[in-house]
Amino acid sequence: MGEEVDTAFVQAPEHRPKSSVIVAEGIPLIDLSPINYQNEDTLLDSSIENLVKEIGSACKKWGFFQVINHKVPLDKRERIEEAAKKFFALGLEEKLKVRRDAVNVLGYFEAEHTKNVRDWKEIYDFNVQEPTFIPPSDEPDDEENVQFQWDNRWPQNPPEFKEACQEYAQEVEKLAYKLMELVALSLGLVPNRFRGYFTHNTSNIRLNHYPACPYPHLALGLGRHKDTGVLTVLAQDDTGGLEVRRKSDGEWIRVKPIFNSFIINVGDMIQVWSNDAYESVEHRVMVNSEKDRFSIPFFLKPALYTDVKPLEELLDDRNPPIYRPVNWGKFRSARMRSNFAKSKVENLQIYDFKFPSN
Ligand code: OGA
Ligand code: NI
Repeated sequence: MGEEVDTAFVQAPEHRPKSSVIVAEGIPLIDLSPINYQNEDTLLDSSIENLVKEIGSACKKWGFFQVINHKVPLDKRERIEEAAKKFFALGLEEKLKVRRDAVNVLGYFEAEHTKNVRDWKEIYDFNVQEPTFIPPSDEPDDEENVQFQWDNRWPQNPPEFKEACQEYAQEVEKLAYKLMELVALSLGLVPNRFRGYFTHNTSNIRLNHYPACPYPHLALGLGRHKDTGVLTVLAQDDTGGLEVRRKSDGEWIRVKPIFNSFIINVGDMIQVWSNDAYESVEHRVMVNSEKDRFSIPFFLKPALYTDVKPLEELLDDRNPPIYRPVNWGKFRSARMRSNFAKSKVENLQIYDFKFPSN
């Protein structure tokens, strides 16, 4: 993958995998059989009550859990997985036709094309809502302001690609909203408490291809990070490689692939809304020396204009707000800029929004 590969592999120490990984004692596995997509709001019968407790405790203890019996049709998932494989198998020239750039960050991207090679993978991004709503700027000179175009770049090949992506997106989005109802209930909120933040959502889906890597001890598929959005619904294949930082002791825990399951994790915005009751947890992806790996995360994200702040209902004298409002659009673009390798912008983190504690 290009001439710079050798130096690219020599990564910062914290980016290198540690050899000892605990495989036992995984993240909680939650059975979603009781959920019902017919009801607008989740009914509070006793089966839901248990489920809500499980979700709450998984969010608190791990920030991560795995779900089965989620009702996302398997054929829709298989269809996008197949389309992703076919797309990534195309020649580079073909894929570069839908390459992302600094103005429109949607489309294809291969780490090789940046100076700062970090991750052993190639990706394709698309937004779920089309067209994605971008509010007119009322501060046109504010350089932090959101100024980008947002149109999906659909490739011509494979021909079924766009439809497969859109159909899967619809299904997984429904699951994400259902999970947000359960998260709301677990915090003692009304089930539809979060719904309004997603009217003009900026949710996206990423197709990840982690090629088999000849130097698995030197590289990571994806370096340690936290997800910045609200909630992530991840489909991983049976190769495995995702690792989660266990909150209790900081150990990296491998997430075992389970057929037709999704891995759910709390993003930075839930951390702020919940005033740290639920935290966004670090995770990373190991490479595999023999097998390619494919994964498809759906990132649930609010409207750009959303000011995310600890929810009033959760606050009192003993639990005062610990964050100042985070404007999602600004937070997001600051994070994007720091991801574009040339930029010297510090990697903005959610703790930068904490009130100073005395
Ligand atoms: C991500 C992520 C995990 C995976 O894209 O943010 O954590 O298994 N992906 O690809
Ligand atoms: Ni992630």
